Amino acid sequence: MGKKLKQIAIYGKGGIGKSTTTSNLSAALAEMGLKVMQFGCDPKSDSTNTLRDGKFIPTVLDTLRERSAVKAQDVIFEGFNGTYCVEAGGPAPGVGCAGRGIITAVELFKQQRIFEELDLDLVIFDVLGDVVCGGFAVPIREGIAEHVFTVSSSDFMSIYASNNLFKGISKYSNSGGALLGGVIANSMGPPYSREIIDDFVGQTGTAVVEYIPRSVTVTQSELQGKTTIEAAPQSAQAEVYRSLARKIAAHDASKAPSPLEAAALRGWAALWADRLLALEQGKVSSPGELI
Ligand SMILES: Nc1ncnc2c1ncn2[C@@H]1O[C@H](COP(=O)(O)OP(=O)(O)OP(=O)(O)O)[C@@H](O)[C@H]1O
Ligand SMILES: [Mg+2]
Repeated sequence: MGKKLKQIAIYGKGGIGKSTTTSNLSAALAEMGLKVMQFGCDPKSDSTNTLRDGKFIPTVLDTLRERSAVKAQDVIFEGFNGTYCVEAGGPAPGVGCAGRGIITAVELFKQQRIFEELDLDLVIFDVLGDVVCGGFAVPIREGIAEHVFTVSSSDFMSIYASNNLFKGISKYSNSGGALLGGVIANSMGPPYSREIIDDFVGQTGTAVVEYIPRSVTVTQSELQGKTTIEAAPQSAQAEVYRSLARKIAAHDASKAPSPLEAAALRGWAALWADRLLALEQGKVSSPGELI
């Protein structure tokens, strides 16, 4: 009997750290002895770079444009620790829907039963941006992924993007869509950054899976074209990514989140503006005192 394949998708605002977090997650899962495929769903096709010494790989869509018959094996490349790296690619800039690209790439793999053939434990989809563009809702809507995680910092625009993602998930949750696994809190800095994220997950009936500090180790590793797991395996930051990997490997209970309506989110943000002002003026030593 085959093992159960776990398919997860990582969403979040542009530039928030999805690819960095996903690549470290894949590297740490591979270190645990699991068979992992990282599936980049961004037309920039830079998701898997740090698993491959900073090198780009040919995308599924580009390969399909060049040849009529493509074997899935031709678009899978080996990355750090035996990870399987794939970049779906995208349409030429300004033409077509990138969501179609994701479907085409996934269809190719499904038809050729690649996930089964490779006996994978996990496939991780690293998806561009938030779900404002319908195309990027594809992994959620089509149930391609079962568990969705969002990467968010404590910045409002990042929380706003996560809240939009929650709306997208809620919309499809009754018709076989993906459910939310949790929030990966990235680029944590001052103590209040945790308090903001904790309050947001409390308001939306979700939970933080892991707190990932903002760290110069990540910057150094990226400059070497590597994940932190590879470039700085003894670092505290690598341990944080390993902890995230253990939690995601063990995770199976995702649920529908309760997104905030626009006015409620605005009101929530305004409260935090007041709390941070009180902190800055020394009226409180922690914004938590005002909750
Ligand atoms: N915890 C962290 N500490 C320090 N730097 C980080 C951290 N997480 C991400 N970064 C940096 O932030 C930048 C953006 O990260 P990344 O490319 O992973 O974001 P992304 O969400 O995938 O972006 P895009 O939406 O463009 O795909 C990178 O330079 C990365 O090194
Ligand atoms: Mg990215």
